[in-house]
Amino acid sequence: MRFAFSTGTRCLILTRVLDSRPVNLPQPVTALTGPADVDLSVSVGTLLFQNPVIAASGTFGYGVEFAELVDLNRLGGLVVKGLSAQPMDGAPAPRIWDTASGMVNAIGLQNVGVRAFVAEKLPLLRRYHTHVIANVFGCSVEEYLEVIRVLNEADGVAAYELNVSCPNVEKGGAEFGSDPILLSGIVGAAKKASSRPLWVKLAPTVGFIGLMAKAAEEAGADALTIANTYPALCLDPHTRKSHLGSTTGGLSGPAIKPITVRLVHEASRAVKLPIVGLGGIESPGDIVEYMAAGASAVQVGTAHFVDPRASEGLVEGLEKWCRDDNTLRISELKGSLKKA
Ligand SMILES: Cc1cc2nc3c(=O)[nH]c(=O)nc-3n(C[C@H](O)[C@H](O)[C@H](O)COP(=O)(O)O)c2cc1C
Repeated sequence: MRFAFSTGTRCLILTRVLDSRPVNLPQPVTALTGPADVDLSVSVGTLLFQNPVIAASGTFGYGVEFAELVDLNRLGGLVVKGLSAQPMDGAPAPRIWDTASGMVNAIGLQNVGVRAFVAEKLPLLRRYHTHVIANVFGCSVEEYLEVIRVLNEADGVAAYELNVSCPNVEKGGAEFGSDPILLSGIVGAAKKASSRPLWVKLAPTVGFIGLMAKAAEEAGADALTIANTYPALCLDPHTRKSHLGSTTGGLSGPAIKPITVRLVHEASRAVKLPIVGLGGIESPGDIVEYMAAGASAVQVGTAHFVDPRASEGLVEGLEKWCRDDNTLRISELKGSLKKA
């Protein structure tokens, strides 16, 4: 993204050029095999994905807007923009700010509302065989449940992903994902209401991710998505005003990757649930890092602001990476982290 990565990407490229340490290049291919020999399929609970690359919520619209640019059928799946019971206008502009190696956004969960999604977007998405995951949010337990009930009646959704990084207005504005008791309450209620697998997308800024992961598991989650953006503030030193209309926003992109890979690793040791990892993925090697740390699949977000075809390119890149590494079944990478 000219505007989202102008500084960060240059820094990264420079760092790589200046860093003269030996790099771990993929091993030479011992037996050259055709693409058909690499099995990219993975499962997340009961759902089988043709590959582990899923477009992340909020960075890929409702999927349909990308259909002219991207072969949606090549993706493992896509998560649509967060859906609320009523349409929402979102936050005041400016909504995005470029940072070193990432970006901060305050979109304010703008969306068409779950009913318009079902009536206008879902019929178009049903033309594709890629799994569609509906990201769900609300400001109260009842609002979350209303979204789920509407979605239950519609065909063409593979799973629900609960965004728990939302303020609970009934509990003084504390985020659902910030407290194991609040988290357990929303996950338990959503699981009861849901006719589909329930993924819970955890907030990254918690004391111990294992505790939140366990709370979600015990309340009935079918999978965890780790993680959402990191609360951040960027301001103009001259005016001392924030660069964002909402003052604070969420940091995403390559800057957050090492922190989130660590969260995936810790959560995978605390629970048996499958984990979908995301944060800063830009290359096939990034995907392998998340999977080695314990993820079953990954999502790609901010990279779409640099290249709207990023997810599709990553599927191709991953296939090549596996062939070069002689990894013929990608699911074998899960949890393959070795001691240093
Ligand atoms: C512009 C923007 C909008 C987002 N909207 C949502 C959303 O509606 N629901 C949600 O759960 N996450 C949302 N996210 C968070 C992303 O899905 C993802 O968790 C985060 O950006 C980290 O991944 P990345 O570094 O690959 O972008 C949004 C992120 C961005 C950058």
